[in-house]
Amino acid sequence: MQNRRRPTSTMTKARFDKVLVVGASSGMGRLVAQRFIEAGCRVAVAARRTELLDDLVNMAPERVVAAKVDVTADDVAAQINGLIDRLGGIDLYFHAAGIGYYNPELDADREDVTLATNALGFTSAVDAVFNRMAADGNGGHIAAITSIAQTKGIGAAPAYSATKRFQTTYLTALDQLSRSRRLGITFTDIRPGFVDTDFLRGDAYPMLMKPEKVADKAYKAAIKRRRVATIDWRYRLLVAAWRLIPRPLWVRLNIHRK
Ligand SMILES: NC(=O)c1ccc[n+]([C@@H]2O[C@H](COP(=O)([O-])OP(=O)(O)OC[C@H]3O[C@@H](n4cnc5c(N)ncnc54)[C@H](OP(=O)(O)O)[C@@H]3O)[C@@H](O)[C@H]2O)c1
Repeated sequence: MQNRRRPTSTMTKARFDKVLVVGASSGMGRLVAQRFIEAGCRVAVAARRTELLDDLVNMAPERVVAAKVDVTADDVAAQINGLIDRLGGIDLYFHAAGIGYYNPELDADREDVTLATNALGFTSAVDAVFNRMAADGNGGHIAAITSIAQTKGIGAAPAYSATKRFQTTYLTALDQLSRSRRLGITFTDIRPGFVDTDFLRGDAYPMLMKPEKVADKAYKAAIKRRRVATIDWRYRLLVAAWRLIPRPLWVRLNIHRK
C-alpha cells in the first residue's frame, strides 16, 4: 500500500539536502539557518563576521560548514563556489545578506554601501548560485529576503527602497530566464515588514515583528517554494493599500521621522 505520510522535516531534508545561507551571522538569516540545520539538512553558513557562525557549526559539525563570504568582494563568485564544493552541491540558496540606512541627508557613503551590498553584491551572489545550478543541471531553489520597502520609493531611505525593488525585479528576470532555458531553478521573494533585528539599530518602528516568527515564515515559504511571501498578514494589507496610492499623492506625503 502506498505510504501517504504528510511532509515532515525528514522530507524537507530529502527535498533540500544541501542548503547555503549567506547572511547567516545574525538576524533572520541566522534563524533560518538554524531551521535548516534542525531539519537535518547539510548546511553551509556564510557572512563576513565568521566568529558568529561557530555556534551554527557546533549544532551539527558533521554536516554544517562555515566560511567568510563578503558579497561586495571581487571574488564573491569564487567564495560561493568554494562553499558549494564543500557542501557537495546545492539544492537551496537562501540570501539574507543586506544592509540599509535611514538616510534623508543622502550621506554618500551610506547610499554607496547600500548599492554595493543590496544591488551589486546581491547580483554577484545570486548569479554565482544560478550559474552553478545551471551548470550542475539539477535545478534548485533560490530564496532571498527583499522587503516591503520596495513597494514605492521612500524619501528617507532612497538607496534602500530602490535596491529592494531592484532585487525583486532581478528575481523575476532570473525566473523568466530559468524557464526559457528550462533549468528548473525556482525562486522565493520574501518581503517582511519591520523586524526587530540589529538591522533597525534599536530605533522604534511600528508593527515590529519578532525575528523568530518572521524566520519561521520565511523558512516555510522557501521550502514550499512559494513565489512571493509578504510577512505578515498586516503588512500584506498595508502593501495592498500602499500600492493604490497614486504617485502624485505619494510624493506629497511626509512620512519622515523628525
Ligand atoms: N529588520 C527589518 O526590519 C527588515 C525588514 C525587511 C527586510 N529586511 C532585510 O532582511 C535582510 C536581513 O536583515 P536582518 O534584519 O536579519 O538584519 P541583520 O541582523 O543586520 O542581518 C544582516 C546580515 O547580512 C549580512 N551582511 C551584510 N553585509 C554583508 C556582506 N557585504 N557580505 C555578506 N553578508 C553581509 C550580515 O553579516 P555580516 O555583517 O557578518 O557580514 C548579517 O548576517 C536584509 O536584506 C534586510 O534588508 C530587514
